[in-house]
Amino acid sequence: MLRLAVLVSGGGTNLQALIDASEQGGIKNAQFAVVISNKKDAYALERAARHGIKSLCISPKDFKNREAFHQALVDALDAERIDLVVLAGYLVILPKILIQKYRDRIINIHPSLIPSFCGAGYYGLKVHESVLARGVKVTGATVHFVDEGTDTGPILLQKAVDVKPDDTPEILQRRVMEEAEWKLLPQAVDLIANGRVTITDGKVSISEI
Ligand code: GRF
Repeated sequence: MLRLAVLVSGGGTNLQALIDASEQGGIKNAQFAVVISNKKDAYALERAARHGIKSLCISPKDFKNREAFHQALVDALDAERIDLVVLAGYLVILPKILIQKYRDRIINIHPSLIPSFCGAGYYGLKVHESVLARGVKVTGATVHFVDEGTDTGPILLQKAVDVKPDDTPEILQRRVMEEAEWKLLPQAVDLIANGRVTITDGKVSISEI
């Protein structure tokens, strides 16, 4: 059983998609070891509690400096013997020590088709605002492994979503979540949990069953 840590900062709809998929048999051979939020009031913590999943709040505010905060995060993952870290709307830049220690064992969901609309500053509604400002006709979501850069790691899954003429950033965000994010993230975890993912020279291949 792959032991999962899901890191969150907000509403946790992607966490919910993982929980639902797991309960409905869409994710096999994985279990939720812990949900970690950097914010005490993240609704995602409530979702974890409702499904009997252990949760922790590790907030930078509770530590004397950034280094101590980062170490607490690594210690919590180590203590839970985590096999895969899933960033599901986690708005903290991960420290190098964590990325190195959990190399190829951290995935993130980004709400665009990388390499478009990604990198520093592209998070939340800003991504969708930029998509609309540029006038692209297709956007989507990407699940990628996390390396030292921002949204630069090996790409695991992508799904395209149409942009419609009357879209607002909020409407588009919702469509990208419904049509892409909530499907891709559980699929990604299932693929990894069942040993179907290999990374070679920064490229991901997925084996057939
Ligand atoms: C999602 O759009 C995700 O792609 C991005 O942050 C948002 C998190 O939403 N990384 P939620 O907390 O899962 O509802």
